[in-house]
Amino acid sequence: MNVGIDLISFYTSNYFIELKTLATTRGVDPAKYYIGIGQEKMAIPPPDEDIVTMAANAALPIIKQIDPAQIDLVLFGTESGIDQSKAAAAFVHGMLGLSHRCRAVELKEACYGATAAVHLAMAHVRTKPDSKALVIGSDVARYELGSPGEPTQGCGAVAMIVSSNPRTMKIDLQSGIYTDDVMDFWRPNYRDQALVDGKYSTRVYLHALEEAWKHYQEQTGRSFGDFARFCYHLPFTRMAEKAHERLAKFCGVELAAGDLERQIGDTLFYNRITGNSYAASLYVGLCSLLDRSAEDLGGKRIGMYSYGSGCVAEFFSGTIQPGYCAHLQTARHAKMLAERAELTFRQYEDIYNLRFPTDGGDHEFTRYRTAPFRLAGVKAHKRHYVHSA
Ligand code: COA
Repeated sequence: MNVGIDLISFYTSNYFIELKTLATTRGVDPAKYYIGIGQEKMAIPPPDEDIVTMAANAALPIIKQIDPAQIDLVLFGTESGIDQSKAAAAFVHGMLGLSHRCRAVELKEACYGATAAVHLAMAHVRTKPDSKALVIGSDVARYELGSPGEPTQGCGAVAMIVSSNPRTMKIDLQSGIYTDDVMDFWRPNYRDQALVDGKYSTRVYLHALEEAWKHYQEQTGRSFGDFARFCYHLPFTRMAEKAHERLAKFCGVELAAGDLERQIGDTLFYNRITGNSYAASLYVGLCSLLDRSAEDLGGKRIGMYSYGSGCVAEFFSGTIQPGYCAHLQTARHAKMLAERAELTFRQYEDIYNLRFPTDGGDHEFTRYRTAPFRLAGVKAHKRHYVHSA
């Protein structure tokens, strides 16, 4: 049975800061950000946007394209959860008005959570071929102000329908996995910014890539040349370039001029102008590839590398389905990104420093531009979401 991604949709905040604004204020050469880490803009969530609103806003357009009654599983991968107990998936389930005969669960393993969700959803669909799963990756990447991680912040969500006979990407059964108990990036429960040993995390990311690839290769016998494109987890776009160069070298392949750009270039576009979205980021790369590829990718095999610090990594693959373009959200993605508003440094810092009310009082949040779900406020420690269209 063919199982994989039937529909895919991306959402990010309507606000961003240019990295040259950040560079100027921090006294850093902008080339470090634009070339050294390969980022141009960071998406910043306004106070009435969170991982739940981004997820629901990503999911709504694709939910409208199917019979939502068929969804009997919602899996939400995130590492910026809003509640220690209630799953973000349960909020989204309610906001989208899904069937009560549905499981709704949140998964966590840093940036890997959504990939775990994709594979669990596929196993579910294989046992119940008529069912559909809604899989979400949604995160706000947040580091300390002035830290090396600051220019790699961002936010975004990707929603996917996983089903049998998928219209976008059939995912192969075999995948290569690597897990190791390391402290390269973590966020204790009492902190709202991640802690990261940045340079170490890039080394673990690359080592895990080799190990996951080896495991994948042992099972499939496929080689580097069997893939038309590669999507890598994207903490920042330069990381994917380094990963691709590393994998090519590991496979004994010499990249010719233009190979890097041709094999991964289209996957990087959205991330470069939105920043890291942790669990969503690999799939933001896939959206970017599908939306921007000038070549018809129908029938082509794509390599996918997911990495979550801590760490769990997986190399898997899928084949893009003929006619996939008709099912993409390309025009909506372009409009959303074109209509974003730029923040000044002061506005960015003010939003960053806002503290979520924890006194149990009744707080109504200022209305910013979101679409169409927003976080209207919090009362008695309960978040209040509205559909404001
Ligand atoms: N022009 C062009 N490039 C420049 C530059 C300039 N003026 N100044 C620096 N650079 C380059 C550096 O040479 C380096 O390139 P290299 O990695 O190819 O050697 C790159 O920009 C980054 O500079 P560096 O000084 O190494 O960065 P940093 O110490 O400020 O931090 C990270 C970089 C990635 C460690 C940091 O952004 C981070 O902690 N990020 C979060 C963690 C993360 O994303 N981990 C990834 C795995 S999930």
